[in-house]
Amino acid sequence: MTKHFIDLDDHSFQDLQGIIDNAIALKKSHQSGEINESLKNKTLAMIFDKSSTRTRVSFEAGMAQLGGHSLFLSDKDIQIGRGEPITDSAIVIGSMVDAIMLRVSSHDDIMTFAEHARTPVINALSDQSHPCQMLADLMTFQEHRGPIKGKKVVWVGDGNNVCHTYMQAAEIFGFELIISTPKGYEAAQDFVDKYQNNISYCSNPVEACKGADLVVTDVWASMGMESEQKARELAFKDFQVNQKMMSVANEDALFMHCLPAHRGEEVSADVIDGKQSVIWDEAENRLHAQKALLLYLIND
Ligand code: CP
Ligand code: NVA
Repeated sequence: MTKHFIDLDDHSFQDLQGIIDNAIALKKSHQSGEINESLKNKTLAMIFDKSSTRTRVSFEAGMAQLGGHSLFLSDKDIQIGRGEPITDSAIVIGSMVDAIMLRVSSHDDIMTFAEHARTPVINALSDQSHPCQMLADLMTFQEHRGPIKGKKVVWVGDGNNVCHTYMQAAEIFGFELIISTPKGYEAAQDFVDKYQNNISYCSNPVEACKGADLVVTDVWASMGMESEQKARELAFKDFQVNQKMMSVANEDALFMHCLPAHRGEEVSADVIDGKQSVIWDEAENRLHAQKALLLYLIND
């Protein structure tokens, strides 16, 4: 059966941990200059209808480092943008490549692709979730602090796609997750219902950060929500991760942000550029984690 990577909870803890462990091994072997052509002659199609720096560069560089090839397909340039049905596109593209990565607004379109393409389909961010980001975050935590099981993770800010994936990860990896969002910006109700046993909520973000091992945030207005920016700045004004929040977290707490970030909005410059921040490792690890993911989906 074709394996897809649409959401974390489609995969077992063992499989996900295996991807992370392999990512750490691949990082070491890449840094030592070893040549790895495990995906020689394989092609990855990358379909984007939203902007990207990390996701595009990491998948493209990752395929090249594994001896394969990638195709950047903007929705504006392919026939999907002119109305060709998703199902037809999935059948055609899936018949020519070895995996398809999609960053599209609608999670349902990714599901439709997976249903009709004969090749593995990867969710590279949808309105609902961002599982590739989570692999890099988990890998980064493990590299710096060891297993995340039993640790206290605090999500401060918007109850968005990345937050949803943290909710799934908390259940699978066994960490405590406290979510602190302004009223009206909570995670989607179906995620709240599904993961209610594992997650707690705290409306006061400083209170939430007490004793945290990891504090995570993301932009206040995700891609596609730019028109809400001003209203969100007002609603989120007490939810900036700053020194006040970090000072109540554990002394060795880490700070993460999937990037791109807005210094002075969701995070203060002294936190994101400070010594507890591991954002550059987190961003680089997208490359290594996705190489391990591609091997798991294409070669296993
Ligand atoms: N974190 C992340 O997905 O970054 P990009 O939007 O640059 O791909
Ligand atoms: N929540 C953000 C993540 C960007 C990587 C967005 O969807 O725009």
